[in-house]
Amino acid sequence: NPVRFSGVWRFHELLPFAPQNKIVTVGEGQTLLQQANEVAKYVGMNEGQLHLQYEGMNPSGSFKDNGMCAAVTHAAMMEAKRAACASTGNTSASLALYCSATQLMKAVIFIGSGKISYGKLSQALDYGALTVQIAGDFDDAMIRVRQVAQELGIYLVNSVNPFRLEGQKTIMYRVLEALQWEVPDWIVVPGGNLGNSSAFGKAFHELKQHGLIDRIPRLAVINASGADTLYELFERRGVRWNGGDVNMEPIVEHNDRMDREGIRADTIASAIEINRPVNLKKCLRALDWMDGVVRQVDDQQILDAKAKVAAGGYGCEPASAASVAGAKLLRSEGVIAPSDRVVCILTGHELKDPTATVAYHTTDQELFNKTLGSRGVTKASFANR
Ligand code: F0G
Repeated sequence: NPVRFSGVWRFHELLPFAPQNKIVTVGEGQTLLQQANEVAKYVGMNEGQLHLQYEGMNPSGSFKDNGMCAAVTHAAMMEAKRAACASTGNTSASLALYCSATQLMKAVIFIGSGKISYGKLSQALDYGALTVQIAGDFDDAMIRVRQVAQELGIYLVNSVNPFRLEGQKTIMYRVLEALQWEVPDWIVVPGGNLGNSSAFGKAFHELKQHGLIDRIPRLAVINASGADTLYELFERRGVRWNGGDVNMEPIVEHNDRMDREGIRADTIASAIEINRPVNLKKCLRALDWMDGVVRQVDDQQILDAKAKVAAGGYGCEPASAASVAGAKLLRSEGVIAPSDRVVCILTGHELKDPTATVAYHTTDQELFNKTLGSRGVTKASFANR
């Protein structure tokens, strides 16, 4: 029974939209939660208290497969012939993989020109997705794909798709399973389009309602400082879920200011280079349910954290390391205590986005400057050796 070998579908009772005989799987979700004591030391936590949920082990190398198997299952139930997404790379790689592995539908992907790492682009191309490069960045691609999908009746698998989020809930089920259903104190996750954070909030809310857990962990969503819309709205302007009655004024004002001043998302963590997250409201709901906080970390903090994570045995891409950098920041602020039990989500594999990694470790000053110097990164790893 293939359902048993999927780290998503073995929880099918908790995502009951799909009858078992309709389930699409390529073996996603066989991931690990590991104690990481070197990283704990770096973050400032007591030994044994920091855990990494390593989602790079998924078939396409990122956490996206958790949600994509659910979205593609639903698309197949709807007899969709084509499925589309905008992407900073991982969503598109995942969609392309599911489409080629299952032959159920054709993948159509929209990417911002020059805004995708070769690791991710190569996956989409090799899996045979129709790959459309559009002028602009992810936020532009997102607008375009919504128009095109609606006009042409193509099934949209971005995380506006609620079935994606159903699948991504299982990341939290596996975390709890690994902790013998002892609820941790903190879940720390990078924030881009805010699908994961939204899904995690829903997961815990439902588990509590079902009486399967007695308390809910706190949520920390970590933005890159060059793509910090959530941080700006939640922490600086105090925008809250407010029982669903979100005050839209600061949000509209923020978007208008970005338009007026031509502000674009800009970070080495290309996966989360997003300034108009589509799941903003759902994430505000998750922050409410999970007594959450939002922080931002810069490219230097991200790359430093990433090198520590990898030196501890878990290679991840830059966006993923934002979680560890964020945990370190919250620890230094005293928001996270050294004795808290913290789970950082490592969202994608090391090999997804290697350019910055090489530049960070090289002793070739020219290469370092070219790739990282313009981003305010001043310290390379070799300077630490
Ligand atoms: N980490 C990685 C490696 C990602 O690829 C993404 C999102 C995130 C974190 C942020 O997650 O959107 O749920 O807040 N990547 C999307 C993509 C946008 O197109 O692959 P989120």
